[in-house]
Amino acid sequence: MEPRADFYTSGNGLETESEQHAGSYFESLNGKWRFLFLEAPEYSPEDFYKTSCKTEQWDEIEVPGNWQRQGYGKMHYSDLCYNFPIIPPLVPTENPTGIYRRTFDLDQIIAGQQYILRFQGVDSAFEVYVNDQFIGYSKGARIQSEFDLTDNLVEGTNTLTVRVFQWSDGTYLEDQDMWWLSGIFRDVELFSRPKEGLYDYTVQTYFDSSFKDAELVVDPVFSSNAGQQITYTLSDKSGETIFEETEAGTKSFVKKVAAPRQWSAEDPYLYDLTMTVKKDEAVIEVVTQKVGFRQVEVQGNQFLVNGVAIKLKGVNRHDYSPKHGRTTTKESIEEDIVLMKQHNINAVRTSHYPNAPYFYDLCDQYGMYVIDEADLECHGFELSEDYAWISDNPEWEEAYVNRIKRTIHRDKNHPSIIMWSLGNESAFGHNFRKMTEYAKKTDPTRLVHYEGDFEVEVSDVYSTMYTWLERDDDKLTMDKVITKTKKPHILCEYGHAMGNGPGNLKEYQDLFYKHDHLQGGFIWEWFDHGIETVSEEGEVYYRYGGDFGDDPNNGNFCIDGLLMPDRTPSTSLVEYKKVIEPVQMKAVNLTAGLYELTNRLDFASLDQYSLTCAFYEDDRLIEEREVDVPETPARTTSVLHIDYPEVTLLPGALYTVHFVYRLKEAATWADKGFEVTRSVFVWDEVKSLPAATEHLDNHLDVKEETAFVTVKGEHFSVRFDKVRGKMLEAVYGDKKVIEKGPEMNFWRAPIDNDMYLVEDYKTKYFMHLPHESVRDVVCRKKEDRFEMDVHTYYGTTNSAWFYDLVYTYIVHSNGTIDFSIDGTAAGRKLLAPPMLPRLGVSLRIAKDFDTVSWRGLGPLENYADSRQAAYPGVFSHSVDELFVNYVMPQENGNHMDCDWIGLAEGEQTLLIKGEKTFDYSVSRYEDSDLEKAQHTIDLKKRDYLVLNIDARQNGLGSNSCGQDQLDKYRCKFDDFSLAFSLALEEIAKDQVAETARDK
Ligand code: GAL
Ligand code: MG
Repeated sequence: MEPRADFYTSGNGLETESEQHAGSYFESLNGKWRFLFLEAPEYSPEDFYKTSCKTEQWDEIEVPGNWQRQGYGKMHYSDLCYNFPIIPPLVPTENPTGIYRRTFDLDQIIAGQQYILRFQGVDSAFEVYVNDQFIGYSKGARIQSEFDLTDNLVEGTNTLTVRVFQWSDGTYLEDQDMWWLSGIFRDVELFSRPKEGLYDYTVQTYFDSSFKDAELVVDPVFSSNAGQQITYTLSDKSGETIFEETEAGTKSFVKKVAAPRQWSAEDPYLYDLTMTVKKDEAVIEVVTQKVGFRQVEVQGNQFLVNGVAIKLKGVNRHDYSPKHGRTTTKESIEEDIVLMKQHNINAVRTSHYPNAPYFYDLCDQYGMYVIDEADLECHGFELSEDYAWISDNPEWEEAYVNRIKRTIHRDKNHPSIIMWSLGNESAFGHNFRKMTEYAKKTDPTRLVHYEGDFEVEVSDVYSTMYTWLERDDDKLTMDKVITKTKKPHILCEYGHAMGNGPGNLKEYQDLFYKHDHLQGGFIWEWFDHGIETVSEEGEVYYRYGGDFGDDPNNGNFCIDGLLMPDRTPSTSLVEYKKVIEPVQMKAVNLTAGLYELTNRLDFASLDQYSLTCAFYEDDRLIEEREVDVPETPARTTSVLHIDYPEVTLLPGALYTVHFVYRLKEAATWADKGFEVTRSVFVWDEVKSLPAATEHLDNHLDVKEETAFVTVKGEHFSVRFDKVRGKMLEAVYGDKKVIEKGPEMNFWRAPIDNDMYLVEDYKTKYFMHLPHESVRDVVCRKKEDRFEMDVHTYYGTTNSAWFYDLVYTYIVHSNGTIDFSIDGTAAGRKLLAPPMLPRLGVSLRIAKDFDTVSWRGLGPLENYADSRQAAYPGVFSHSVDELFVNYVMPQENGNHMDCDWIGLAEGEQTLLIKGEKTFDYSVSRYEDSDLEKAQHTIDLKKRDYLVLNIDARQNGLGSNSCGQDQLDKYRCKFDDFSLAFSLALEEIAKDQVAETARDK
């Protein structure tokens, strides 16, 4: 059938429900179907489509579902490779084929009704047979296809056969970066509509120049004009009728609406439009449609929604389920949208195909700007050196245009959609020009988007992906985009959320806010595409490319979402929430309590939020009070003044103020009181008093041998290796608390964003092969302490750059150990790597000291370029809670700006205090364990804790796809120093802050 809007007849005007049911018909054909899986279509039984065909021996399969997720065919993940030779339009003879069969019963065939069989998604091509007859064929895997069955149905039992081919010429247009998944994967429905009812309609809204009054325009389409009339009734949410008017079905309905409430992602107000179709006064059908009044247009180098150059704070979203592949449910889509709203996200690009239809209803309802993308990508051609092979070939024009045509028609009545996207990564040429012509002609109310239109010939917005902020070569950077573009710019993809990262989201957001014609972007991507698997031991983990013998594959390149596959928001999602927060705060005059608020919303004021100010002394809440949010219209700033509580400031304490913005009223996506954002400032910090020089007259016993020194106090002993200049262990009471002293370390388990560094790290810089040459070790026994100074050179295999290191150890007679390390970058410095993973030391601690408190940034992991969501304070977590379980294990759990940490076991705490702030992380795994593990289940807990204390660590960057670590966030081969004390204290874990202050 010709594509049309996705709607249902909601009734035929008959009084009672049973009368209505008698009047039209609806049945979901989801459920169990018979299934025959073949290696090529030619193996089909000759009579496969006939009612007489014996199917009792066939298997059963769930519809909707991907057959690869139900035990048929092969799981395969590839980014851009076609799984067959590029000989368009041919595909291989071995073409996995699934024959689906089911029956359905019709009590009666209602006269005057058209019976439609609707498939919302079948991958990739399929034939439909009903009652021994061939009905039709369709392609376009992720868009709707409808078949008219009116003349083929019988009263009683009907037999439906659907033969699905994994590969078709359409596959050349469906080469998106995702799992190759086939079959009937979205809903199948059979329903009827009155033949004389609406076949299709388009609803559009236009505002007057002052954006006050609007015009509602409805264009009805009938398959046969039989004198129908339509009564249009518009009502608001409360059910109040705005107008009711009747117009001939042959005409467009144009109606002025006085000052309608405007639809936006911030206020997704929907009206109900009821269209009652009548003929000779008899009601033929009633169709209801949600209407949002909103207008999209380009003005100069900006695009406007309702007159405002909005900012898109978006994500790219695939339809995905870790269990079922591309089959999703309405519930899981709704969960996605609710989570997005809760994280301040206001836009989705449906990468890279139209999503399941209810997605758009939910976006209308919850408020999301949508870039609706056609199911089109032919990325594999890039490697043929003729990227535009079919994109610029007019023989493929109809195939291309058909894809945007069906997208537009199905989705045109959704106010949430602001742009049509022609597809993704398919070069440019004739067929894209034709698609644009079609889109512009059919729907002038929305913009056309296509990133592959590099010269921005047809696209209304200049769209780029992963554009770098800074780089050494002359490739495109954001500053060039800013100065050159004549059209509004968006990043349709950026911030590759693979593994730990991305970094520097803030830098992009700052640019978006600074330039009106930079209108935001879409993080790649929403969800990790891991395949849920249960190990033999019964542990759940997630597989990715290569885990199914798929070749070629792109490994864990599909694990690149803000949401982990078990739906845990990753740190990066929380970071993104903060970066795109609706209220930004800045201290204007901290001591005077003057703060500036910027409303980052595009339409709404900040009235909808309550503001709580909470004042802390370390982890103690001093006072909490509600404060009025100053009147701050959208996109403006205001000033807030607060009084600090009157407290006696304690030496060594950190005083913070938390500004917490919450929803005043419940929203559709969160309860009343939901935290929208939080800004934390250090309002005062009192330096510790210099520790009183306690006179320690405890006895210290130092036993020095040729190679070792043992220092014994009353309740402890510390042992050193003089040859290697290392502290070996520290025993307190009879417990070996420190199982290995601080050792120099510049490695981290590579994160995905380090993927292009690792090879050089290993084969050029030999970073995994460090060697230390001890130059000098001096031991001194003093009255109440033992001191050891060590001087070494620390380098790697065959490298002429190295660190000149000076370590000092002081063991006091009360058991406190002072440690310091000073590194001077030395040797042939120019030969050193451009950035080091980290600079610091690593220790081993007894495994039961696993309750961690710290004063520094928290509560979640943070890194130099990903620390917006983190704030200063005192936090406490178990080592296991601190671990971030990335699908592909890697460096995680770092905390910056710490001045002390405590590792507690029962009533004892190993307290570590820095002279300056440091980074720490503590884990049950060695870096090498994380590095070797391919999946979470490969990790086996060590029987000690690995504690890293670093002067600094490299940023995360987004270089798995995009910007590498920005210069300012790099950990460079520079001098560094680190100094801290280690002491075992008798303190309960909730008293660590107090003790840390006093000591
Ligand atoms: C983009 C592409 C996406 C995805 C991403 C990397 O170039 O459009 O589909 O492949 O890179 O994850
Ligand atoms: Mg691609």
